[in-house]
Amino acid sequence: MTGKTVQKTAALRHAGRDWRVPYLPVGSPAGAADIEAVTSVLGSGETLSGGAWRQRFEDDFRAYAGTPHAMSVTSGTVALELAIHLLGLRPGDEVVVTPQTYQATIQPLLRHPEVAVRFCDVRPDTLNMDPEHLRTLVGDRTRAVILVHYGGLPAEMDEITAIARAHGALVVEDSAHALGSSYHGRRPGSLADLGCFSFHSSKNVTTLGEGGMLTFSDAGWAERVERLRGNEADARYSPRARRFGTSAEAFPGALYPGLAYTHDCLAVLRPGTNATLSEAAAAMGVTQLRSLPEFVARRRAIAARLTEVLAEYPGVIEVPREPDGVVQSNHLFTFFVRQGGGIARDRLLHELAERGVQVPVRYFPLHLTPEWRSRGHRFGECPVAEHLWFHEQMNLPCHPGLSDKQIDLLGELLADALAAAARTPGAEGSPC
Ligand SMILES: Cc1ncc(COP(=O)(O)O)c(C=O)c1O
Repeated sequence: MTGKTVQKTAALRHAGRDWRVPYLPVGSPAGAADIEAVTSVLGSGETLSGGAWRQRFEDDFRAYAGTPHAMSVTSGTVALELAIHLLGLRPGDEVVVTPQTYQATIQPLLRHPEVAVRFCDVRPDTLNMDPEHLRTLVGDRTRAVILVHYGGLPAEMDEITAIARAHGALVVEDSAHALGSSYHGRRPGSLADLGCFSFHSSKNVTTLGEGGMLTFSDAGWAERVERLRGNEADARYSPRARRFGTSAEAFPGALYPGLAYTHDCLAVLRPGTNATLSEAAAAMGVTQLRSLPEFVARRRAIAARLTEVLAEYPGVIEVPREPDGVVQSNHLFTFFVRQGGGIARDRLLHELAERGVQVPVRYFPLHLTPEWRSRGHRFGECPVAEHLWFHEQMNLPCHPGLSDKQIDLLGELLADALAAAARTPGAEGSPC
């Protein structure tokens, strides 16, 4: 049975039943401080959009991330869309990306058929972009490198940014998993040119279930994001301001006659959108950010516990190691069941699912998805990412939504499933 079939069978068998240990938090992650903050916004009589909370959240985030600009938007996906727009891609440009991430990291590039996307393989011990492979892909046409800090473990940013800068390429950090991580005293989102964060319900902090943030240094980008997220066009404007009128009489259609349409638009680069984070969401962002150290400590404690159980299988199971000077948030708990060690990864997935532990494998290598295959990408392009997904990598539940009881249970079920998998030779998995 292939890995896919095993997962599908298990999913069907468990359809409609409550998981004993769910992969994602069940219910709201809001605590008392979040509820108080949101309630106070709702009861304040103040506007629910475009008030002071969004600014406060952005100020706090900027201070936390250590970047000159932090600008909120409505999701991590929108943050990435705007970041990729800011790259100013032109026909003939190349962008190097990781295949091992959630699809939103690179999805906006599908709207750029004029740009060549090159998938960089990942390191077999971390699933982060491999600087050695990157070195062979980056050239004078490379406009940008887009990476993720997989599971919250920071990628090798010193090496990666040095390689990119040697060719004048920009680097985008998808930091959706890495809020709360650190890299030699600095924080993700401040390690390259642009940082993108998600505050989806499952993330390290959430803003009422959806939200996102962009971080960067460039003041020009700040002006452009301000326009883009507020329904104005990102455009080249004439330096000479032209006023149609300064009073409602002179320009009766305008709500703010003195301000509106005071410049000529020479070229629209992209129409704007409404990506305003609501006041209630921003208020929750403020309180969640304060709780971040506690959330990360909980994630790390769960990861440490699971690592202890896995340590019973040295040489068979490997858990990604934190290099010196690096702290990871453990947004995901990932490990590798090395092939040929006596335990088949797919057997272990099956044994865990049978015991009520929800175990997706994150993420399917993106160059093999239909949308990227239709752009000419194919099997064999990133052999390490492919091998790991089809044979070795897996994830376990690891989030503050797990109770102490569930964490104890997870440890026991994992030990039990490992023992069962070690007794039963199983399928090694095969490409689809
Ligand atoms: C790595 C990564 N990038 C981007 C996103 C997209 O974020 P959002 O769900 O807020 O749009 C996610 C969300 O799951 C993610 O895991």
